[in-house]
Amino acid sequence: MSPARPPEGAQLPLGGTARSAKGAPMNSGVWDGARKRIHMQEVGPRDGLQVEQRFVETAEKIALVDALSDAGLVKIEVSSFVSPKAIPQLRDAEIVLREIRRVPGVVYAALVPNLRGAERAIEAKADELNLVMSASVSHNLANLRMTQAQSFAALAETAAAARQSGLAVNVSLSCSFGCPMEGDVPEATVLEWCARYVNEMGADGVTLCDTTGMAYPTQVARLTRAFRERFPKTELTLHFHNTRGMGLANVLAGIDAGADRFDASFGGIGGCPYAPGATGNVCTEDVVHMLQCMGYDTGVDLDRLLAASRRLGEIVGHEWPGQVVKAGKSSDLHPPPAELEPTLSR
Ligand code: COA
Ligand code: ZN
Repeated sequence: MSPARPPEGAQLPLGGTARSAKGAPMNSGVWDGARKRIHMQEVGPRDGLQVEQRFVETAEKIALVDALSDAGLVKIEVSSFVSPKAIPQLRDAEIVLREIRRVPGVVYAALVPNLRGAERAIEAKADELNLVMSASVSHNLANLRMTQAQSFAALAETAAAARQSGLAVNVSLSCSFGCPMEGDVPEATVLEWCARYVNEMGADGVTLCDTTGMAYPTQVARLTRAFRERFPKTELTLHFHNTRGMGLANVLAGIDAGADRFDASFGGIGGCPYAPGATGNVCTEDVVHMLQCMGYDTGVDLDRLLAASRRLGEIVGHEWPGQVVKAGKSSDLHPPPAELEPTLSR
């Protein structure tokens, strides 16, 4: 297939540094949001519900996506068109895509692993296909039952079908920050896969996924900067799991290095069933709350988002990791305890 646009970054060196041209460390602008727009993409209906023990009823899924649409998220990954034997929890993807209420301006995406999935997603009128493979050999085999070469060939076929139907194509690269079976994944390996998605497949966007919460802030800043330098025109999304509590710090490190688009999951639910030790995504409302406190513009109505997350208790039937939905916003004030009165009048 001929590339969709001229190759990007062919001569640029791999890797990036947090240094200015003169070699001095750059001043960080991350601490002042200054109304800068950060795009929040919700993956809970896919990444979250795919690992739930119990099948979430189709009507509940539709109501959840509708509630999330009303909260102002720019993109929602509604479901996945994978083998129902691999992920039975999302076997109703067609019905969900067909019956959700489409809010103008919101991109309704679906994850697909192969051409069969793309055909199903196109038929169900997804706006964007999120193609998936792994930067780690072992995780690719476990998750997709294909070698990386087989996956790449399947994705190239899939991207061509998507483009023919006028759909946008994003590629999510699992284990970009490390693999629970292989350990470190070299930055050069990650960037070489990205180059193939952009230049050979014509991908509109790439998501660097921290599938099992191994990413740490300095690593995130380094890889984000390297990606931005090498692929300045490609939409970059960062996808973190909060498995080791580094999710929010990683979001800030990503923003500092030039990222402005993040996947997150309402309630912090989620995880990959084929990655040992995987747990939930960084929580959408916790990220939005933090960024709003810092003066960023996320475009998200936090109260509506919190209302959607509060439904999770009934739907998944267990505790979920999100913090703000339990504690309330930091601006929610409580009346002082009545017993203060006698103390004051002493
Ligand atoms: N949609 C629906 N069914 C599909 C499908 C798709 N996209 N792709 C394959 N199938 C079906 C096949 O028709 C076949 O069905 P059958 O057994 O009734 O004949 C079955 O699934 C197995 O197909 P096969 O081509 O042999 O695939 P596989 O068993 O090697 O699995 C994948 C490959 C990619 C389809 C499977 O591993 C998968 O769906 N993985 C996704 C995992 C995932 O979503 N992980 C979390 C997100 S990162
Ligand atoms: Zn994930």
